[in-house]
Order: sequence, then C-alpha cells, then structure tokens
Amino acid sequence: MQKLIIEGSRELRGEIRIQGAKNSILPIMAATLLCDEECIIYNCPDILDVKTTIEILQYLGRSTTFEDSVLTVKPGNLKKSDIPEFLMRKMRSSIVFLGALISKTGKAEVTLPGGCELGPRPIDMHLSGFKQLGVRINENHGKIECSVIKRIKGAEIMLPFPSVGTTENIMLAAVSCEEVTTIRNAAREPEIVDLANFLNKMGASIDGAGESTITIKGCKKFNSASHKIIPDRIVAITYLCAAAITGSRLVIKGIPKNFINSVIPLFEETGCLIKFFDEKNLQIYSPERLQSVKTVRTMPYPGFPTDVQAPVMAMLTTAFGTSVFVETIFGSRYKHVDELARLGANIKTEGSVAIVDGVKNLSGANVSATDLRGAAALVIAALAAEGVTIISNIGYLKRGYEKMEDNLRSLGAVIKQSM
Ligand code: EPZ
Repeated sequence: MQKLIIEGSRELRGEIRIQGAKNSILPIMAATLLCDEECIIYNCPDILDVKTTIEILQYLGRSTTFEDSVLTVKPGNLKKSDIPEFLMRKMRSSIVFLGALISKTGKAEVTLPGGCELGPRPIDMHLSGFKQLGVRINENHGKIECSVIKRIKGAEIMLPFPSVGTTENIMLAAVSCEEVTTIRNAAREPEIVDLANFLNKMGASIDGAGESTITIKGCKKFNSASHKIIPDRIVAITYLCAAAITGSRLVIKGIPKNFINSVIPLFEETGCLIKFFDEKNLQIYSPERLQSVKTVRTMPYPGFPTDVQAPVMAMLTTAFGTSVFVETIFGSRYKHVDELARLGANIKTEGSVAIVDGVKNLSGANVSATDLRGAAALVIAALAAEGVTIISNIGYLKRGYEKMEDNLRSLGAVIKQSM
C-alpha cells in the first residue's frame, strides 16, 4: 500500500501549471467511441482514472496511445457493448459510457456503480433520461441492460437536479439522433461545455452548454476531431489551499478566472489575496494565519464546488475562529474528518453540517486516505502540520492529481513516497 511521507510546516515557493481536467477527459474519452476515425486529445492528465478509461476503451475494441499528455484513440471494430464489473468497480464515472454505447451500438450493459466513499451513487436520473429517448431498461441483480426499442428519438427532458453525469449521459445518448433533444435544469459545469465542444467538432449541433437548457441535434456520422482538454479547476483550488494553509506565495498558471470565481471571495475572507496577472495566470498571497469562514455551502456550478469541500476544510483547520460547512450534493462526504482529527483538527459533524473550530497547530500523525478529495485534504493538512505525517492509501490521490508529489517537491515541500 503506497504511502506519502510529508515533513510539514514549511512555506511553499514557486509556480505550477494546472493539468487537464479529470472530469472533462473522462466523458470525452467515452465520446470518442462514437467516431470511427482517429481522435487526438491534448492536455490529457496522466492520472489513474485516465488509465482505467483507456482499459475500458481497449476492452470495447478501440486502440489507444498516450504520451506527453497526448491521447490518441484509434478506430477498431467495436466488439462489445458491456463494461465488466471489475472495471465498473474501479471507477464510478465509467457509468458515462452508457450513453456513448447506446448511441453507438443501440445497447449497453453495465453493473450498478455501487455506493462509495461519497454515499450512494444512484443512476435513476440517467435511466429516466434514457427511457425518454426511447431506450428499454432492464435492471436485475445490480446489472443494467439498455436497448434501443426502435430508434433513439428526440425528447424534452427535465432533470429533477442538475446532475453532471446525467447531463453528460443524455448528451451522449441523444447525439446520434438527428431529432432535437432538450435538457432542462442541465448541469452547467465547464466540463459539460468541454464535452459539447468536442461533440460539435465531431459533427453534432449542441447549443446552450454551460446554461440550464441544452439543445442537442445529433448526427449519424462523427468525424475525426482533435481537442485540448480544459484545465482542472478542482486541482487549481487544491493548490490554492496548500498555499493558503502554509502562509505561502504561489504562482498558478493556466487556470481561467471564471473557473474559480466561486471560491475567490472565500479565500479573500480567510485573508488571502488572489491577483490575476491576466485571464489565466494568478498569484496567491497568504497571511501568517488564516481567518475562519462563516459558511461554506456546496452547490452545483457556478456555486461552491463539492469537490473542494474537503481541501478547503483542511485549509481551515488551523484558521482563527470557527467555519461551518454544509454539504448539499453528496450524502456522505465527511469521511476525511476523522483522519484530519488524527492530525489535531477540531471538527464536529452532524448530518450534512461540519463545524471546524480552528486550532493553532496541527501535529504530524499516521493517517489514511478515504477517497480522492479526502486524500488531497490530508496532504494539505500534512503540509502545515508540525513534524512528519504518513498518509496511506494514496492510490486515491493518483486517481485525479497528476504528479502532485513532484509538484509539491518543486515548490519546496519535503515529501516522498514509500511502499
Ligand atoms: C460528477 O459526479 C463528478 N465526477 C464528481 O467529481 C462531482 O463531485 C459531481 O459531478 C458533482 O459536481 C465526474 O465528473 C467524473 P452528479 P456525478 O450526478 O456525475 C445524485 C471528483 O471528486 N444523483 O452531479 O456522479 C448523486 O448521488 C468527483 O472528481 C442521483 O440521485 O455527480 C449526488 O448526490 C466526485 N441520481 C448528486 O445527485 C442520479 O441519477 C450529484 O451527482 C444521479 C445523481
């Protein structure tokens, strides 16, 4: 079991460039299934979830090359329309292959993604959207079998919640139908816009991505396309937290201001100053000790992102005062709290609420990562803690953060891996 060993309470100095977005590359890789020509994706992050998705593409009959952030997906005969359980269990977001397989083959078979570290991960909204597009759904013993009844038909789909995965899956299923499909109350994340841009490059006509109403006019044949993945806003905010808790000045390159607008007021409330040199490059200045933040409520985009709830909570464990978190997106996203407490954090949770009473210092300890963003939270806390922290289960971290250990070492952190 891989571990990270961090010697904390050191300032960071220097600059880093932000990787391509994990939550953009995954649905775009599923979208490459639609095209029978070669697709080239630039700025692809070198992370475990990409490697798992490559395994799924290869299982389905595609061949791929991945070198220096360039992913090439080559045509091959699409032999299957199922995703085996061992791959589904590796990564819940493989559910987004459902829509692409339905579009491409008229059927799809996957196992339920299963509950996980964030709480139940139901897919009722995905399946309801598919039914409205003319797809028959059979569910038995945790297996989902989808088959197009006659043909995919255009539909008016109202989402009960702006679910990211549901929006993506409906786009991918509807995009092979030349009738118009409208998604109302759609998710508005930048990753949705990136997927729509890629599908339009291949020949679709999708309007409104990034807004609450998206219209999709699909196409029968998808052309070869090349595309550069947008920067990862969650990774960028994670590094901002690392700078803030260590009282550091950091330059972060390649992150559009509008991608992190929702968190800038929060960092300013803590006493940090974030200055943009231009549209995509910023410098963060951090005080000796942060001020607490009254309320942090996670919301769908463009609200405060649930994916930075854990990193921001870690950042505020040593702030002056009390910060209150309300997690409104997932049912159980506080598993990192007990591990932060081992480092000396003072956090109480009650349902969706977490109350963080800032402490003067954290102290190094042995901790264990519970999920991807929880792992990032432990790294952030360890960077500030006095003494040595050993973080186990860091495989979670590698699912979404490219070369985090190297990046932090280049900024002056004393960090190394051990088995
Ligand atoms: C995506 O997950 C992201 N993952 C998550 O990032 C992110 O936290 C989430 O969107 C919210 O922004 C990827 O893009 C690969 P949802 P997704 O559907 O699509 C409930 C990370 O750390 N729901 O918007 O699964 C669901 O249980 C990951 O990078 C239903 O009830 O999120 C959750 O409570 C974690 N029924 C809420 O909606 C459904 O059919 C939001 O889920 C679908 C979702």
